[in-house]
Amino acid sequence: MGLKIDSKKALDAAKEKARQRMENETIRILICAGTGCVASGSLDIAAALKEATKDIKAEVTFIEDGCKSIAVKTSGCHGFCAMGPLVRIEPLGVLYTKVTVDDVEEIVETTIKKGEIIERLAYKHPVSGEIYPIEKEIPFYKNQTRIGLMNCGVIDPEDLEEYLARDGYQAIAKALTMSQQEVVDIIKASGLRGRGGGGFPTGLKWQFALDEEREQKYVICNGDEGDPGAFMDRSIMEGDPHKVIEGLMIAGYATGADTGYIYVRAEYPLAVKRLKKAISDAQAYGLLGENILGTDFSFKVIIKEGAGAFVCGEETALMASIEGERGMPRPKPPFPAQRGLWGCPTTINNVETLANVPNIILKGADWFRKLGTENSPGTKTFAITGDVANTGLIEVPMGLTLREVIYDVGGGIKDNKKFKAVQIGGPSGGCLTEEHLDLTLDFDSLSQVGAMIGSGGLVVMDEDTCIVEVARFFMEFTQNESCGKCVLCREGTKRMLEILQRIVDGKGELKDIEKLEDIASAVKDGSLCGLGKTAPNPVLTTLKYFRDEYIAHVVDKKCPAGICEALKVYGINADKCKGCSKCSRVCPVGAISGEIKKPFILDTEKCIKCGACVEACPFDAVEVV
Ligand SMILES: Cc1cc2nc3c(=O)[nH]c(=O)nc-3n(C[C@H](O)[C@H](O)[C@H](O)COP(=O)(O)O)c2cc1C
Repeated sequence: MGLKIDSKKALDAAKEKARQRMENETIRILICAGTGCVASGSLDIAAALKEATKDIKAEVTFIEDGCKSIAVKTSGCHGFCAMGPLVRIEPLGVLYTKVTVDDVEEIVETTIKKGEIIERLAYKHPVSGEIYPIEKEIPFYKNQTRIGLMNCGVIDPEDLEEYLARDGYQAIAKALTMSQQEVVDIIKASGLRGRGGGGFPTGLKWQFALDEEREQKYVICNGDEGDPGAFMDRSIMEGDPHKVIEGLMIAGYATGADTGYIYVRAEYPLAVKRLKKAISDAQAYGLLGENILGTDFSFKVIIKEGAGAFVCGEETALMASIEGERGMPRPKPPFPAQRGLWGCPTTINNVETLANVPNIILKGADWFRKLGTENSPGTKTFAITGDVANTGLIEVPMGLTLREVIYDVGGGIKDNKKFKAVQIGGPSGGCLTEEHLDLTLDFDSLSQVGAMIGSGGLVVMDEDTCIVEVARFFMEFTQNESCGKCVLCREGTKRMLEILQRIVDGKGELKDIEKLEDIASAVKDGSLCGLGKTAPNPVLTTLKYFRDEYIAHVVDKKCPAGICEALKVYGINADKCKGCSKCSRVCPVGAISGEIKKPFILDTEKCIKCGACVEACPFDAVEVV
């Protein structure tokens, strides 16, 4: 370190040096050090691999002219979280899954020294049973297109030089040769829309801020990411922090801001650590600070750690939080571009939005428009979770169908179960059904069916899911997270949750469904901020597409999926029962009777649905009927 990059020429020289260093690394072993893999011990694997490879440079037999150097690197998230800890070996392109420290010796002896594959560590397709040792051939990866995630899992996020080798800071260098308006025009022409949920055109947002004639302006990167199950932004910040900083710098230059804030929740310690390191390294190289690359542009980046409230992701609440106030939203207008942080024009963009910017500047608007759809160009990252074979972080072109995402990338439904629904867009999103599987994933087509891409949460559910319980779960989340400032959100979400709870408790009435709809539309129309405005979405979409399930709960007092405890009716399957009496012995209310070696009988009137008999039965004979 210590090298100052104070001109485009110096940047190119640093890139060339970094590129040569990486070229020398004839073997690169990348160990995933995203939060998930770190939690499953990937750092110990990295340490063991470093130790085991330190003296073997010349012994490698599969590279013709011998091995110059072996680089053992920790990287950002590879995305395939369910299969972690992950280890990728280049140039073979091999990906090993569920690796342990005990596998290290075999990896070194077999794959590193001889270039041979260890089949047992390769990914095995859960449905076809096919083995895929090469990463890019695994269906999970094969169907993805990566822009925001292009460096995640590929470079060491704590090594600025690796970012430089992959065109790092070239986009800001190019932007600085253009006028601010030219930069805004490229982003406008690219059609990039905000990835934080709303899908607002980024170029237009930048134009509003550029048009404001004020001395002091700010840019903010929104890394709050409070949606349950979502970790797209976290992975980008952890896996490619310099890309986020570079995107923020470009936004700062284009709009006339000299200061950028990155708002990250404190529950993301690894993201905070890597961003801090990236900022201090960029400062040390002169890539942040005064007169960047020898121009008049000066820019600093400040990290603000949030305390982890969902509402703090809302832009006006986020700014209040940075100002040291309680994170509560305020009415718009004025919009942040006019009156933002400390009353100054402010541009707020999501992490993924900003991560797209450097590539658009370098490769052009047309390149970006070639991906995705007419009105939603580019790609989108999703956190795909739930009852799907391959869970993790993915990036696909906009316009892929839900079916392609769930079955081709996600590998289909786990355990040969039937697909039931997909909840898309997190707590503000909607629940879609089998009839929507051929719907394309883009901002407009989803909003037409009452759902939204949101920030990219995608929860796949199988036939054993109770849709009313899903709606109750999301309502509980938004109700807990309501800041309480406006009555409709504070009281409305509470009443909706009470009704949903009543329904899953088996105490709902038909008129509750009507009441739920009435309150939902009032909360949607009258809430102050997006939290309340979108909180009813999961309820409204499930009422629209799964109304019969609500009816079954309130009229028939049945939970079709057999999930809601209060509505479960247990019975004993006479074909499976061996008459061992274990069930009747544990029943606390004497609801089970029978003769030894003959099928027992359960009295549903007496049964208190405690489930003790289910646990006690060795033959799975007690069933929900
Ligand atoms: C309750 C609520 C939570 C939000 N959380 C986030 C978030 O975590 N990250 C984010 O980028 N945007 C979030 N948003 C959207 C932001 O207010 C804002 O629209 C976004 O950061 C703008 O960036 P973009 O145009 O690049 O999407 C949230 C909005 C609401 C109403």
